[in-house]
Amino acid sequence: MSKKRLLSGMQPTGLLHLGNLEGALANWVKLQDEYDAFYFVADWHSLTTLYDKGELIERYTRELTIDFLAAGLDPEKCAVFVQSHIMEHAELHLLLSMITPVSWLERVPTYKEKQESLNLETASYGLLGYPVLQAADILIYKAEAVPVGKDQLPHLELSREIGRRFNYIYGYTFPDCEAKLTEAMAMPGLDGRKMSKSYGNAIYIADTPEETIAKVRTMFTDPTKIRKTDPGHPEGCAVFAMWDAYGLADFHEDCEAGKIGCVDCKLRLAAYLNERLAPIREKRAELSQKPELLDEIIAAGDEKARKAARETMVEVRRAMRLG
Ligand code: TRP
Ligand code: SF4
Repeated sequence: MSKKRLLSGMQPTGLLHLGNLEGALANWVKLQDEYDAFYFVADWHSLTTLYDKGELIERYTRELTIDFLAAGLDPEKCAVFVQSHIMEHAELHLLLSMITPVSWLERVPTYKEKQESLNLETASYGLLGYPVLQAADILIYKAEAVPVGKDQLPHLELSREIGRRFNYIYGYTFPDCEAKLTEAMAMPGLDGRKMSKSYGNAIYIADTPEETIAKVRTMFTDPTKIRKTDPGHPEGCAVFAMWDAYGLADFHEDCEAGKIGCVDCKLRLAAYLNERLAPIREKRAELSQKPELLDEIIAAGDEKARKAARETMVEVRRAMRLG
């Protein structure tokens, strides 16, 4: 029981795609052996922008949990739970909001970006408080390691600062949390840009093998390479970039020398992906047919999380002279 606590979460705004799988989930799966790991679906965070899309968030919360388990999170090793099932996160969020200067939140780059990109006339109080909720998620488990992508570093920094401020005011309660940067391969999407749900360039683990083949066929390649024998330029080719993400782009010369054709190159990639995804898809299909089993797994994860969260809240309330 001397393992360090680790926590991470993902918003239920879509299904898991290859980029999430190879970037985050594969790493989470490894870390569940080394740490006392907690992984959750951050459904409240999704409400900061999609407050009127409850149905979608509800559906994706289940689908994403299925994806987590299919990708290899093992409920015997880690807690897999849903944020909104643990009310204590909301209580800690409220209490932390009392000691978080508004100026710290207004400085967070993702706040400004979302405010602009969503074209909201006024961003909500909840959106401004997004990083406070994230700090609550982390601190309530006294997590020391938080595996995230680079984009989350400002949030992690703020979580650390909020935790330190709490310790300074009320006495030592929270350990410092460290971002554990995922040394992820950057997974390109079908068009060669970063794979992202919002670009519509993603391959999902829930896709069928046929859909995968059809998607790979549409991938961007070297437009000057029409016949197999035409010399190709692998740099800038999305197919090559995806092979490269898997460390298998060892055919640079053959492409340039016109020894391989794009159709064949794509078909082999689709076959590779389908083979890689087959066991995950099988597990996914199995879980999709057993909603009660999924409910049980989530309930067990919730229980484990709730116990840990309650323990911290007893300390927090005592430190703040509440109750
Ligand atoms: N903000 C994270 C994201 O969008 C999700 C998240 C919410 C999270 N709470 C967290 C990640 C706590 C790590 C720890 O990816
Ligand atoms: Fe890209 Fe493969 Fe065609 Fe070369 S052969 S341009 S790597 S798809």
